[in-house]
Amino acid sequence: MALIAHQGEILHCIEDPLQDNNGAWEYFENGLLLTEDGYIINCGEEHCLVKQLPQDAKIIRHEHGLIIPGFIDTHVHYPQTEVIASYGKRLIEWLEQYTFPAEMAFADPEKCRVMSEFFIRELLRNGTTSAMVFATVHPQSVDAFFEQAIRLNMRMICGKVMMDRNAPDDLTDTALSSYEQSRELIQRWHGKGRLGYAVTPRFAITSSAEQLESASQLLNEFQDLHFQTHLAENPEECDLVREFFPDCQDYLDVYDRYSLLGRKSIFAHGIHLSDREWLRLRETESSIAYCPASNLFIGSGLFNLEKADQYGVRVGMGTDVAGGDSFSMLRTTNQAYKVQQLNQFNISPIRSLYMSTLGGARALDLDRYIGNFEKGKEADFVILDYAPTDLIRLRLHNVSSVIERLFVLQMLGDDRTIRETWVMGNKVHANDLH
Ligand code: GUN
Ligand code: ZN
Repeated sequence: MALIAHQGEILHCIEDPLQDNNGAWEYFENGLLLTEDGYIINCGEEHCLVKQLPQDAKIIRHEHGLIIPGFIDTHVHYPQTEVIASYGKRLIEWLEQYTFPAEMAFADPEKCRVMSEFFIRELLRNGTTSAMVFATVHPQSVDAFFEQAIRLNMRMICGKVMMDRNAPDDLTDTALSSYEQSRELIQRWHGKGRLGYAVTPRFAITSSAEQLESASQLLNEFQDLHFQTHLAENPEECDLVREFFPDCQDYLDVYDRYSLLGRKSIFAHGIHLSDREWLRLRETESSIAYCPASNLFIGSGLFNLEKADQYGVRVGMGTDVAGGDSFSMLRTTNQAYKVQQLNQFNISPIRSLYMSTLGGARALDLDRYIGNFEKGKEADFVILDYAPTDLIRLRLHNVSSVIERLFVLQMLGDDRTIRETWVMGNKVHANDLH
């Protein structure tokens, strides 16, 4: 494939703005993003790079928009797509009334196929190019998801839910069957194309000690597996965990006992944590998926981002559909900003961009491959539109700095703001408006 030069305004993060807000990002007003065979060849100002363009390079102009890395959703449940925006419950009741019945339908492979296809299309419409995904307890739900993801050559992580108690019979496995089924899926999918497997016990309430032991065994047996679960999302959940695991010091300690913490482990939510748990997350280099839309929608609480920063715990952004009520990482950023306002803590526009791109890649330990426009990384990117709605056009009329423009898109933007989505150098979504 010939070299492609994407020409336009380019913004990406190269560090966590927490340490150095100005040195953390690069902006090229008249930029070029050079890609070849799906990889980033270079990125910089046009006048610096134009000399190295071969004669046959294809030039694609992206006007009145902003080229940024693809969004990374660090926590989302594809089988819950159909119950997004379900009324009136907190976590445990919400799971019982809406989520579990929806997940039961994934015993049917055709259902898995149709919903995987819909879900991935929805991600791309929202500019999300990679995600850490929960399937259901059914192995076929993982097969269907990976089959769709590999067709578009997406960098995706997914895992079969392990759940052997406190759930309907149709949705439970056993310590042994969850081990065997996960093992088979790992052998079939992990490392194939850009796919990765995550060992996925739902949360401490729905796994026996034996099943957590099985999860641990899988992590020991295979190299480079990811791990995902939920942690300290809701007070009632935390009380139940204390009841089920009376010997453990606290919620995180349940997972720690089975050696499930580490660099490739991501815990969704972490709203109700003690200092000991924060310290332990840091010591083990575990990360948190911050899901503000979900935390608001199912009334779980206000995540303490300042605390995560104080302890140096990596944090990525997640939609947590269908606890979260939007697939849009822009909408999610909007909610994150407002929640932290309530905490008297600011998230700068660049920090928000970082958390939904490079920070997400780091939280998932995927930053060797994705997250920004460093040479050699995979060419996943998005073109944000500066005029997707009359209101945004009006608001941006007199705004001159890219950071101010970015903030307006983060606060007012949604799927309409995503003009195009590119995965591995190929255009996979274009907004119908264009
Ligand atoms: N805790 C256990 N399962 C779930 C789930 O499906 N969604 C959310 N938000 N929290 C959970
Ligand atoms: Zn979740």
